[in-house]
Amino acid sequence: MKILEVKDLRSGYDPEVDVLRGLSFEVEDDECVALVGANGAGKSTLMKSLSGILKPKQGEVYYRGERIDKLLPHQIVELGVVQVPEEGGTFSNLTIEENLMISCRRKKAKEEKEENLHLVYESFPALEEKKQLLAGSLSGGQRKMLSIGKAIMESPELLLLDDISMGLAPKVVEDLYVMLKDLTKKMNIPVLIVEQIVDIALDFAERGYVMTQGEIVLSGSSQELLQTDEVKKIYIGI
Ligand SMILES: Nc1ncnc2c1ncn2[C@@H]1O[C@H](COP(=O)(O)OP(=O)(O)O)[C@@H](O)[C@H]1O
Ligand SMILES: [Mg+2]
Repeated sequence: MKILEVKDLRSGYDPEVDVLRGLSFEVEDDECVALVGANGAGKSTLMKSLSGILKPKQGEVYYRGERIDKLLPHQIVELGVVQVPEEGGTFSNLTIEENLMISCRRKKAKEEKEENLHLVYESFPALEEKKQLLAGSLSGGQRKMLSIGKAIMESPELLLLDDISMGLAPKVVEDLYVMLKDLTKKMNIPVLIVEQIVDIALDFAERGYVMTQGEIVLSGSSQELLQTDEVKKIYIGI
């Protein structure tokens, strides 16, 4: 079954300029999909449009067959669509555990709090070790783990991840993706990631799309996409 279906999506910040220029793609309920694109391609604009932070100008978004593009962000979360934002979302002046505990906004998440907390600590042992410390004391990689942990505390049924590699050292990114793979396998939930580090993203996913200037220009299996010139260009940053 299709968990997410995006049809001809147009979105942007200025009435005159469309950042997303008619984007269509889909995610099945048993897959992990990567949408890769260079810096400025529109990946975060897409994520904001899916989670209701930015209202699309045109097009439709369906989650489990239900139209969600007119809903408010908290209504979209309540349905189980949970985003790890590119930036922010964690509170420096709260402890790690407080940050996690305040994230259970969904009704379902309130019931599954203990299990979810256990899963977060099991997946990211550094967070458990530091659970009583302020989030402001974490390294960049640990801060990202906390941001992912907060999303897990919502009992996501579709997890959206926006450029989790942003600002992190290559080795940290590599380790983060290994932990994330393990976690999403355990949870058995569909995942949509957008990333500019194409090889890591396509290794993580089974299938992907390539986005250039607000449009999808290619789709295919991760193996196929890794061989294409479009992906190689993003990789070397042109
Ligand atoms: N808040 C904003 N206001 C105006 N323009 C924006 C805003 N955020 C992003 N943009 C523009 O939208 C385009 C796509 O940006 P973004 O979605 O952040 O790309 P990506 O996440 O792929 O790096 C860029 O040209 C960027 O300058
Ligand atoms: Mg971005």
